[in-house]
Amino acid sequence: MLLFLGTMNYSRFLTAVSAARKPSPIRILTELQQRSPPSLISLAGGAPNPNTFPFQSATIQVKNGEAVVFDETTMKRALQYSGSYGIPELVSWMKELQRSLHNPPTANYSPETGQMEMCVTTGSQEGLCKVFEMLVNPGDNVLLDAPTYSGTLAALQPLGCNIINVPSDQYGMIPEGLRDILSRWDPSDARKPGSNLPRVLYTIPNGGNPTGASMTTERKQQVYELARKYDLLIIEDDPYYFLQFQKPWAPTFLSMDVDGRIIRTDSFSKILSSGLRIGFVTGPKPLVDRVVLHIQASTMHTSTFTQVTHHATYTPLLFHSLSLFHSLSLLLSLSRSFSLSPTLSLSLSLSLSLSVSIHIYVCVCVHKFVVNDEA
Ligand SMILES: Cc1ncc(COP(=O)(O)O)c(C=O)c1O
Repeated sequence: MLLFLGTMNYSRFLTAVSAARKPSPIRILTELQQRSPPSLISLAGGAPNPNTFPFQSATIQVKNGEAVVFDETTMKRALQYSGSYGIPELVSWMKELQRSLHNPPTANYSPETGQMEMCVTTGSQEGLCKVFEMLVNPGDNVLLDAPTYSGTLAALQPLGCNIINVPSDQYGMIPEGLRDILSRWDPSDARKPGSNLPRVLYTIPNGGNPTGASMTTERKQQVYELARKYDLLIIEDDPYYFLQFQKPWAPTFLSMDVDGRIIRTDSFSKILSSGLRIGFVTGPKPLVDRVVLHIQASTMHTSTFTQVTHHATYTPLLFHSLSLFHSLSLLLSLSRSFSLSPTLSLSLSLSLSLSVSIHIYVCVCVHKFVVNDEA
C-alpha cells in the first residue's frame, strides 16, 4: 500500500479563519503571569484584585469521606483569570494520563513534526466544535460513521460541509466501506490544491452515540492505514473511553499515531461531572495551538474554579468512578449470560446511578427469567 510518508503539512488542513488567527497579547500576558511568582503584580492585564471578591473558601465533600478544602489563597487563584491551555498542573497531569494510557508515539516528537500537545476545554463539545471550525470549509467532504452523535452534527452542519456517511455495524466503522468510498479518489489528490478528497474523518471509537458500537483494534489499524494512504486527519471523539467494560481496553487511534494525524477529544463528563464541564483536546501541537488561539478569542479559558476543583479532586474521584465502572463491567458480563444487549447495559450505566442500575438490572434479569421460564 502506498502510504503518506514524511512530515505532515498541517497548514493544508486549516480553514482560512483558523489560519488567520493570531495570538491575543493579553492572553500571552496571562500565560506569563501564570508562570511567575505570586508576588508579581501585573498591571498589564485587566485582572481584578481577588481580595475584592466575596468568596473566601470552599469545601467539597468527596463520597469516599475525604474533604477537599480550598483555603483563601487557593480561592483567590480559582476565582481569577487563567491561561488558555488550562492551569499548568492540570495540563501536566493530563499529559501524564495520556502518556500512561496511550503511550502516543508523538509524545517526544519535535513541536513542528506533530509533538503531542493538550489543552483543557469546557467539555469535549467545545473542543470538537473548535476542531471542526479549524478544519472544515464550506463544501468540504467530511467522513463520519453514521448514525452519529447529534452534537457533532450540530457543530458540523452549519459549516456547510458535505457529510459522507461511512457504513458501520456493531464494531463501528467498517474499513472496507471506507476503502470503497475513498477509492473514488487517487491518494495523490491529497497534494493537489482544490482537490475535494476528504481531509477529515470523525469517529466515536467506544460506545458510539447513539449506537453503542465499539471499534475493534484491527479495524482501527485498518482505518489508520487508510488515513495514512489518503493523508486524512482522524478526529477521535472518545468520551466513553473510561466506560469500557472489556479488559484490556482497546488501543486508541492516539496510541497508533506515528504520523501526528490524530486529534483526540476526551471528557470527564461521564465519570466525574458533566456540569463542571471539563474536557481536553490532545493532538499535534501545530493544530492544538490553533484550537487554543480560538479559545483565546472566545471563552479565554475553561473556568479556573472548575479546573482547580478537578485538579484537587480527580485522584479520589477518578478512582471512585473507575471502581464504579469496574462494578458495571461485572454487570455487563452478567448481562451477556442473560443476552441483554450491550447498548442496553451501557445506557443503564450512563444514565443511572449504580444502585439504581443494579435495581433495574435485577428487575430486567428477573423479568427475562420469568419470560424465559414461561416460554
Ligand atoms: C459522542 C459524544 N461526544 C461528545 C459529547 C460531549 O460531551 P461533553 O459533556 O464532554 O461536552 C457527548 C455527550 O454526550 C457525546 O456523546
